[in-house]
Amino acid sequence: MNHPAPDFLVALEASQIGALIRQSVWIYPTANISHVIAIVLFAGAIAVMDLRLMGALAGSDPARVVRGARRAAILAFLAVLLSGGVLFVAEASHVALNPVFQIKMALIAFGFAHAVFLGNRAVRALDTLGPQAPMPSFARVSGALSMLIWIGVVGLGRYIAYN
Ligand code: HEM
Repeated sequence: MNHPAPDFLVALEASQIGALIRQSVWIYPTANISHVIAIVLFAGAIAVMDLRLMGALAGSDPARVVRGARRAAILAFLAVLLSGGVLFVAEASHVALNPVFQIKMALIAFGFAHAVFLGNRAVRALDTLGPQAPMPSFARVSGALSMLIWIGVVGLGRYIAYN
């Protein structure tokens, strides 16, 4: 069954900004390339953070590595959000109805909630640990879960185009 998009999304897509993004020869491609570059930077920071939480890079100070990588991930995520927002406005009414896009957004929300609740707790627990100390089990679980979530989001993002 094909549901119509909510009015505000139809209006957003039909707005002057939506039209400008679609008509310009460079805005959409620039946002798309920026989205991919921001995703690469985000994925790199997330990989360092999650691997350290899981016990890899064991010679390094866990709190410093994880906090530094987390800051980088937050900055990269803002760029992902901005570029993704531009892509979204251009085709808001139909992309929002794409089930793959909806699952991607739900998984991003879950990833965010995980970072705020379990992730924050894991980062705080590292403050008392030195290099070579074994990681607490919930920190390992948090790292593994975060990695799975964000790999899933990247895969879903790419899959939107085929759905
Ligand atoms: C960490 C978060 C995110 C990841 C990992 C991610 C990943 C991706 C990937 C891999 C693509 C395909 C790019 C391509 O092959 O050209 C994509 C496309 C897209 N993303 Fe994201 N994305 C994220 C967040 C967002 C957000 C927050 C939004 C909206 C506000 C968004 C909106 C879009 C749109 C509209 C497309 C184009 C879909 C299409 O028509 O093919 N993304 N994303």
